[in-house]
Amino acid sequence: MRRKIIAGNWKMNMTPTEAKALATTLAPLVKNPEVDVVYCVPFIDIFPVKEVIAGTAVHLGAENVYFEEKGAFTGETSPAMLKDAGVEYVIIGHSERREYFHETDEIINKKLLKLLEHQFKPILCCGESLAQREAGVTMDFIRMQLKLAFQGVSASDAAKVTIAYEPIWAIGTGKTATVAQAEEVCRGIRETVKELYGEAIAEEIRIQYGGSMNEKNCKELLAEPDIDGGLIGGASLKPEFGHIVNYKA
Ligand code: G3P
Repeated sequence: MRRKIIAGNWKMNMTPTEAKALATTLAPLVKNPEVDVVYCVPFIDIFPVKEVIAGTAVHLGAENVYFEEKGAFTGETSPAMLKDAGVEYVIIGHSERREYFHETDEIINKKLLKLLEHQFKPILCCGESLAQREAGVTMDFIRMQLKLAFQGVSASDAAKVTIAYEPIWAIGTGKTATVAQAEEVCRGIRETVKELYGEAIAEEIRIQYGGSMNEKNCKELLAEPDIDGGLIGGASLKPEFGHIVNYKA
């Protein structure tokens, strides 16, 4: 039985002061021993958030990482820096990074390998654009994204990755994929993992849905057999996140 994982992706929204206040507001609301809860926060918010969640069950995550160990890479943050700061999970391959920062599948693959080398728990995002969905190539595209991202990753490491299915057209738009659409792709992702690593790893790996998930639609989405959690943007910045974490209540 896979354990659910519900992660907030705070994106570029909170100053350190605001981040600390948000984590403090969420503290009494975010409680569910059956779920792994993660806050993925901007680098500058890591320390204030870490201070608030210390001693709670909430896990600390980052929204990005660089794939080199150290050196002249102005503005970048290395895996060792994140490790030392107490970060456990790291999001990579988000469509916003692919689009606005031109991150290619090759870069994402390097980041994935580096995160696994440093014993992080990567959250690897994938997902199609509206044009790709309308052209009927959703699953082909995602299969390709996954195959490129996982190049060189061993089976034992693959199981440590959480895959987040985020249809680009559903991100921040208020337009959620239907439960059937989300489950269909998450099942397709599991099939792809099976092709790459076999049935046992496919059954073990966790797959999240992300894209306008909220307190109203989370229960239905999380009841699907292949949806093991959510990667939440907008709703992770509000007390509503507590309802999502307690989706069964
Ligand atoms: O990574 C989370 C994400 O992109 C979904 O954002 O605001 O649609 O929940 P949102």
